[in-house]
Amino acid sequence: MKTIIEPFRIKTVEPLRLTTISERRDQLRRAGYNLFRVPARHVLIDLLTDSGTGAMSSEQWAGVMRGDESYAGADSYYRFLRTVRSVTGFDHVLPTHQGRASERILVETLIGSPPAGCGKVIPGNAHFDTTRANIEHAGAEAIDLLTEDGRTAVSAAPFKGNLDTKRLRALLERRPGDVPAVMLTVTCNTNGGQPVAFRNVQRVRAICDEFGVPLILDAARFAENAWFIKTREPGQAARSVREIARSVFELADGATISAKKDGLVNIGGVLLLRDEEMFQRASDLLILTEGFVTYGGLAGRDLEAMAIGIDEALDEDYLRYRVRSIEYLGQKLAEAGVRIVQPPGGHAIYIDAAAFCPHIPAAEFPGQALACALYEHAGIRACEIGSVMLGEHAVLELVRLAIPRRTYTQSHIDYVIEAVLEVKHRAEELVGFRLAESSGSLRHFTARFEPVSRERTATA
Ligand SMILES: Cc1ncc(COP(=O)(O)O)c(C=O)c1O
Repeated sequence: MKTIIEPFRIKTVEPLRLTTISERRDQLRRAGYNLFRVPARHVLIDLLTDSGTGAMSSEQWAGVMRGDESYAGADSYYRFLRTVRSVTGFDHVLPTHQGRASERILVETLIGSPPAGCGKVIPGNAHFDTTRANIEHAGAEAIDLLTEDGRTAVSAAPFKGNLDTKRLRALLERRPGDVPAVMLTVTCNTNGGQPVAFRNVQRVRAICDEFGVPLILDAARFAENAWFIKTREPGQAARSVREIARSVFELADGATISAKKDGLVNIGGVLLLRDEEMFQRASDLLILTEGFVTYGGLAGRDLEAMAIGIDEALDEDYLRYRVRSIEYLGQKLAEAGVRIVQPPGGHAIYIDAAAFCPHIPAAEFPGQALACALYEHAGIRACEIGSVMLGEHAVLELVRLAIPRRTYTQSHIDYVIEAVLEVKHRAEELVGFRLAESSGSLRHFTARFEPVSRERTATA
């Protein structure tokens, strides 16, 4: 059979609420045109993020009931530990409440408390915004070293998440002693959920060994990345996704994981470390803000669900459907002339908003304009990943349609396709925005915007 179906059936349903255009216009005004500020009950299809928004399986819900809520040494913790050790090969495992907690503890473990990081630099393929913010908060610099292919929307190269090893070597030669770690984000969210090749991880590892620098993975989407390695990288097809994922982890000295992605849970994170001394320091920091080392800010039931989710994410029938459903959305949009980041990534389709509304300059946030138009037109909530989120680090003006795992069906996706194409039809009517209120390094969560007048956008 050619048709790839959702490899599950639905046992519990959650009603969606239809709203009118005038209600949505009103919500946009109240929210200062920032979709993070719109209450979820006014959203029909929520593609803001794939993080923590997926559906848990019947096994995970059964696990929730089994959760052991003992403060220390709960059964659920040991179940979590066994699973993470077997999937990753790491002995030192800490649970955290989500990815950014792992990042904060990792950065402090590597370089000390702020501003100890002054003069230090952590290169990566492309840091996720919370990773960058944590590195900068410690006083260090976060540098992105994507290859040329990874920095353009049009190249259809299979591994656009790869780190440019020539630039990495040059940096390490130029600034010996200033680099406490190299980070690889798999898959690379910032440039379109693009995968990193196994060969690239090996090369980065070899350079890290040469310069005596630890290699850390941001492995939020470790299973999707392993699927891409299996299906796109020569010589990898015969290995199972589980084997591939494990061999990627084995090349690293540590990893942060937001389990809200491939952990298939609504909350949870993991910090993995190879070095005993670093693990002790990280454990002390964990106790300071997250909780005791056997629960790390989570309930026993969360640990139980996370252990089952990490395992389920490696199911190849699930991954085939997951990646195919994203590709389907991308194909339909591209065939209708919408420019997207190619090839489709693992968890989202990224629309090139600069190409979608060429009359809106980057300084007036074309991505914000498109995201607001999709919400107003069809109740779809998407996420700007461009000059609003990344400021001067933005390479592209993108709007991300992130697909929650196991949550929406094909007819929901068909509705999204129709909505994007209808907005495209009248794209020249969209207006840009200016920032009315903003603060902090993660301003996209809280900023308020005002539409610029149509006349200004038209002449910009
Ligand atoms: C690649 C990557 N790293 C880290 C994070 C942060 O994880 P969390 O939201 O669980 O703090 C995210 C979240 O979206 C991410 O996509």
